Amino acid sequence: MPFKTKRASRIALTFARHSTFEGISSSNFILQNYTLSQSMALSFRKVVSFSYCPAIPLKKKFIMKKILHLISSFRNEDSYSIKLGQAIVDKIKAENPSAVVQELNLIAENYPHLDAPHFQAFLTPTAELTEVDKEAIKYSDKAISQLMEADYIVIGSPFYNFNIHSALKAWIDHIVRFGVTFRYTENGPEGLVKGKKVYVAMASGGVFSEGPTQSYDFNGPYLKHILGFLGMTDLKIFRAEGVKLPNLQEHALEKAIESISL
Ligand SMILES: Cc1cc2nc3c(=O)[nH]c(=O)nc-3n(C[C@H](O)[C@H](O)[C@H](O)COP(=O)(O)O)c2cc1C
Repeated sequence: MPFKTKRASRIALTFARHSTFEGISSSNFILQNYTLSQSMALSFRKVVSFSYCPAIPLKKKFIMKKILHLISSFRNEDSYSIKLGQAIVDKIKAENPSAVVQELNLIAENYPHLDAPHFQAFLTPTAELTEVDKEAIKYSDKAISQLMEADYIVIGSPFYNFNIHSALKAWIDHIVRFGVTFRYTENGPEGLVKGKKVYVAMASGGVFSEGPTQSYDFNGPYLKHILGFLGMTDLKIFRAEGVKLPNLQEHALEKAIESISL
């Protein structure tokens, strides 16, 4: 018998027959009209596993995906990169209805510039962290744990002075951590943030995807390089570009949204 009890078998079959989760968290499951308590959630975790239930494979649709949506524009409702990022999130959600979204507004979050106490804490073994180190490293720990938990990372990246916004750069400086998100091997550096799909929602006044200004794009190539260095090599960039150019601005966002392919 694949299940330990009849009740376990019944719960597993109920889940297996339904394909649309509305949302899952470790303490609370909502499946169509059912809200399950933590104890039932635990039962579910136990029964829908290969060891207990070899007959019912753990289908992709039962795995809750997480989307981390980073915002680095201060223009809020006027922002093209936020709108484009949202369109990417919507598309991911359309393919993964059970996916949960965590939105992280880096302008509001205001990660501090990396300085000596942060870096000192990065270099200190966990067991030896002082209270001062723990305070300094909390930004990095939080950012890395949000990053590691995500399956999809959508990064809104406005063009500011040919580069990314400093709020996004501050976040990056907290996630690049030796021994945690990258390491050195005898074959060179190895990124440790693996298995992620990254989508960059870029917005720029001019056009940088082609033509003579292409070499002035220090935004896309930088993100591609630094995230690739950390192991996030599956990265696509979508651009709302020319938003300050009279003949392009009208359709820039629409064109960018149409170009989204996951
Ligand atoms: C301070 C500042 C610097 C900017 N620098 C550039 C730039 O170097 N190149 C460019 O094409 N557009 C530049 N722009 C235009 C923005 O890229 C454009 O407004 C874009 O829509 C910003 O993204 P957002 O709409 O998500 O805020 C700049 C805008 C501001 C406010």
